[in-house]
Amino acid sequence: MTTDLTWLKKQLKKIEETNSSFKEEINKIKETDPYICNEFHPWTPLKLVFLNYLLDVCAIVANNNYSKKNYIDVFAGSGLNKIKTKYEDILIGSPFIALLNHNTKFTKFFFCEKEKESFKTLEKRINKLNFKNFSLFNLDCNSCLDKILDEIKKDKFPYNFFFVDPFDLDFSWQSMKKLLNIRSDILLTFMSRASWRAVCTNEVTGHGYKALTTFFGDDSWKQAKCERDILEIYKKNILKERSDAVFYSVHINSVKGFAYNLLFITHKTGTGNPWMKPIINAGHEIEKHSDKAVEISLDIIKKRQNTLF
Ligand SMILES: C[S@@+](CC[C@H](N)C(=O)[O-])C[C@H]1O[C@@H](n2cnc3c(N)ncnc32)[C@H](O)[C@@H]1O
Repeated sequence: MTTDLTWLKKQLKKIEETNSSFKEEINKIKETDPYICNEFHPWTPLKLVFLNYLLDVCAIVANNNYSKKNYIDVFAGSGLNKIKTKYEDILIGSPFIALLNHNTKFTKFFFCEKEKESFKTLEKRINKLNFKNFSLFNLDCNSCLDKILDEIKKDKFPYNFFFVDPFDLDFSWQSMKKLLNIRSDILLTFMSRASWRAVCTNEVTGHGYKALTTFFGDDSWKQAKCERDILEIYKKNILKERSDAVFYSVHINSVKGFAYNLLFITHKTGTGNPWMKPIINAGHEIEKHSDKAVEISLDIIKKRQNTLF
């Protein structure tokens, strides 16, 4: 059986340094601290492809209803991602997916990055391209969220898109509650596997059960009987805060097994959210693929290989 890579190749080209229509800009930011990149597994591009796709759809929908539109990236990284394979391909990270590919669709961009080195590089890279409409925070996002919310609440009726992309369980329920209680669309990298491991072993990033309770806001995680339950429990907790929440989740797969979920959270609309259809279709495409498909697609689009074989 062969896998059709047409969709994946097309989407990867939009975020890969040599195929992007922003090749020149990416070259410029690569000159800044060239050795500083977030290093990722080959399945990470599936997450970035989904983010890029989602921003397209959400921004078009928001454009009809809102004049002020905010993109808020609370685990921003350094702006460039290097894939951990022998070719070390470079893809733009979430800040530049938003700033380059979706610049005119948003009126303001907010980025938060805790690590000093990544933050400084991100700041230099953004300044190099002379963007003006952004705010940067070198802080733990759980402690700077109020500052961002104060800023966005200055506008009467803004559209807010939050990308919450932690490595582990670093986004507290107290912070999530703040996002749920303002009108917003949220894309969360939900570490189902790491959470389940913590449930089973009390061990994730050294905090175990404590980290789970901070992430879930209570001990509801104790009800989980298997990995799949973890996300369902989290969704139930969300519904207690945002009764009109609508979800769509995508599995990010590696050939050795499932890696994590992406959870998209929005509001129910009067017409039943028909605008989500293309998002769901994109999710289905992503779930057909894994890290291996990403590697082959990158080989083809970077002309290291001609076809699937
Ligand atoms: C998964 S990476 C983000 C990658 C980025 N979103 C992208 O797609 O290119 C997570 C980043 O969050 C940063 N980080 C970790 N904990 C944080 C916190 N509590 N607040 C803000 N940033 C944090 C890490 O230093 C790392 O750069």
